[in-house]
Amino acid sequence: MDDTRPQNMEGLCVSDCRRCPALVDSRSRIVNGTGPSDADVLFVGEAPGGQEDAEGEPFVGRSGSVLDDQLRTVGLERETVRITNCVRCRPPENRDPTTDELENCRGYLEAEIDRVDPDVIVTLGKVPGEHLLGRSVAVTSETGSVEEVRIAGTPRPVLVCLHPAATLYDRSQESAFAETIAEAAAIAGVSPTDSGGQSRLGEY
Ligand code: URA
Repeated sequence: MDDTRPQNMEGLCVSDCRRCPALVDSRSRIVNGTGPSDADVLFVGEAPGGQEDAEGEPFVGRSGSVLDDQLRTVGLERETVRITNCVRCRPPENRDPTTDELENCRGYLEAEIDRVDPDVIVTLGKVPGEHLLGRSVAVTSETGSVEEVRIAGTPRPVLVCLHPAATLYDRSQESAFAETIAEAAAIAGVSPTDSGGQSRLGEY
């Protein structure tokens, strides 16, 4: 039996998996994706970091704050999008996931993509960009570009995006990151005034 099939929650949640011995040792839990199962935008990161491993949710550390701020700016509240990772367990010392680890977790990601069926998949950083596009990606120059990719037999629009942490290391990347997140919102048909925050300002 293919044990990379998700084990519950209608194709979204993995409750147990022991395919990657190094990750089984380093994780304290499996970090599944969060957000609506019918979200229009699906963000895909690399792997959980320390904070994500502790809290059991993707992008809740510093990178998550950068992402949340930008989502809010473009009218995409975090609660309305789905956020997941290529690999669901924290790699030791936050190293990149290996090719085998990415492959071991691929079935879970594909099942999540199938189930959510988003308007756009946004890859956050080099690892998810290359994993889903199946080629090398120069994220800094390609951020904002959309490519149609066949994933588990279905063509999907994939929007290449910088990792939010890139803006922490290099402030000059902030505008490119902001523009790419705005593009994701535009593809999903969301404008800044669609969200509670900005439109409600007019009420006061
Ligand atoms: N970086 C990632 O790629 N994923 C997370 O969940 C957090 C940080």
